[in-house]
Amino acid sequence: MLGKVFRAFLLLSLLALTVESSAPSSEEEDSSSEKDSEEHAKGSPHGHWTYTDQDSWSVAFEHCKGKSQSPINIDTRKALFDPMLPEIVLEGYDLSDTKSLKLQNNGHTLQLSLPNTLRIVRGFDTVFIAAQLHFHWGTKEDPGSEHTIDNVHFPAEIHVVHYNSKYANLSEAASKADGLAVLGAFIGIGLHENENYENILSVLKDVSIEETDTEIPGFNVRHLLPPNLQRFYRYNGSLTTPPCFQTVNWTIFNDTIRVSRKQLAALEDTLKAEHNELLSKNFRAPQLLFGRDVQSSFRAEVSGSGSQPSGTGRSGGNSRSIGEENGNQGGFSRGDILAIAFGALFVVTLIAFIVYMVHQRKKFSRFTKDSRQNVIYKPATKEEA
Ligand SMILES: *[C@@H]1O[C@H](CO)[C@@H](O)[C@H](O)[C@H]1NC(C)=O
Ligand SMILES: *[C@@H]1O[C@H](CO)[C@@H](O)[C@H](O)[C@H]1NC(C)=O
Ligand SMILES: *[C@@H]1O[C@H](CO)[C@@H](O)[C@H](O)[C@H]1NC(C)=O
Ligand SMILES: *[C@@H]1O[C@H](CO)[C@@H](O)[C@H](O)[C@H]1NC(C)=O
Ligand SMILES: [Zn+2]
Repeated sequence: MLGKVFRAFLLLSLLALTVESSAPSSEEEDSSSEKDSEEHAKGSPHGHWTYTDQDSWSVAFEHCKGKSQSPINIDTRKALFDPMLPEIVLEGYDLSDTKSLKLQNNGHTLQLSLPNTLRIVRGFDTVFIAAQLHFHWGTKEDPGSEHTIDNVHFPAEIHVVHYNSKYANLSEAASKADGLAVLGAFIGIGLHENENYENILSVLKDVSIEETDTEIPGFNVRHLLPPNLQRFYRYNGSLTTPPCFQTVNWTIFNDTIRVSRKQLAALEDTLKAEHNELLSKNFRAPQLLFGRDVQSSFRAEVSGSGSQPSGTGRSGGNSRSIGEENGNQGGFSRGDILAIAFGALFVVTLIAFIVYMVHQRKKFSRFTKDSRQNVIYKPATKEEA
């Protein structure tokens, strides 16, 4: 009986919690019109683009001025905890060294082609197939992650690009609304050399010239990602390079990767882009949210003992305005409301419990008074553990 009462209340509390967290937020901006313009994208001219002229990408690539662009600044206090976000499960990432992989300097990034045996088998409505991974970085003075956490850049960022298995290949999927899933993680500086990253970084010199590639033996690609894949942010965004298709289901991990200072320097200083210029600062500035939500698979700790950005952090000047423009409605954020709602439900449960206990106690004392000895009192038995 006692157990039943408790379970009923717990269920109620949980139900209220999930209903609240999955309820659509009142968005200032309706982005459903996005799909109409999606069709035009295919015909976009394949113009030349560079990171120094990113403000004019939208001249040749109209999607780049859309309202669901990436990267973004992630305001950790505004991320909405969603307990229903499914865990990401990867398959086939542990490649045999008999398999060879193409590593390429394409003038914009360092890119590793991945066989279609690498997959995200859980975490989305369908299976997503890996196509390639690549990096974004800055310079020693200017950390170059694309996403920022509370307006702070990390030294570098890895993106593992997957396409929806319902499409034939990456290029076909790229323009589809449910086409892409990219796993992103921050790369910071640690004390030790990261051996997993040596699989790639040790051959950088072989691809220092633009549009060159080399083959490297297979390795466990999973180890390029952070150890913990359970804590992540989720939002709807875009490719961070032209044509900026707004077709990416983004996952940004909260756990980070560490490489040594020397390894990071190799990434920053080795590769050349066009005109033999250094290939660095290949990151796009954070884009406006336009009312988009960022969800998180985890509850932020109140203690603030979370993982600190390693290495030098840089405040993203223009990304600070995001928080102001889409600022919350003053008083309570949805997180606060959730907390209050849950707190209230807990109190109700507690009161019910106390009332029940008092009631039981009365019954018990009455019972013992009446029956005196000889009768063995049997308490209401719990049915289950
Ligand atoms: C991204 O994936 C989540 C989890 O499957 C899903 O709920 C959401 O609708 C997806 N976003 C898009 C734009 O398809
Ligand atoms: C991708 O698939 C489409 C449709 O099947 C096909 O026409 C195209 O050639 C493929 N592209 C590549 C790069 O394989
Ligand atoms: C992303 O878009 C999908 C489809 O429109 C929507 O169901 C989902 O809630 C969105 N995700 C977030 C985090 O807003
Ligand atoms: C991870 O989450 C904690 C808790 O919200 C936050 O303090 C920290 O900045 C986050 N780090 C990253 C890289 O997301
Ligand atoms: Zn990228």
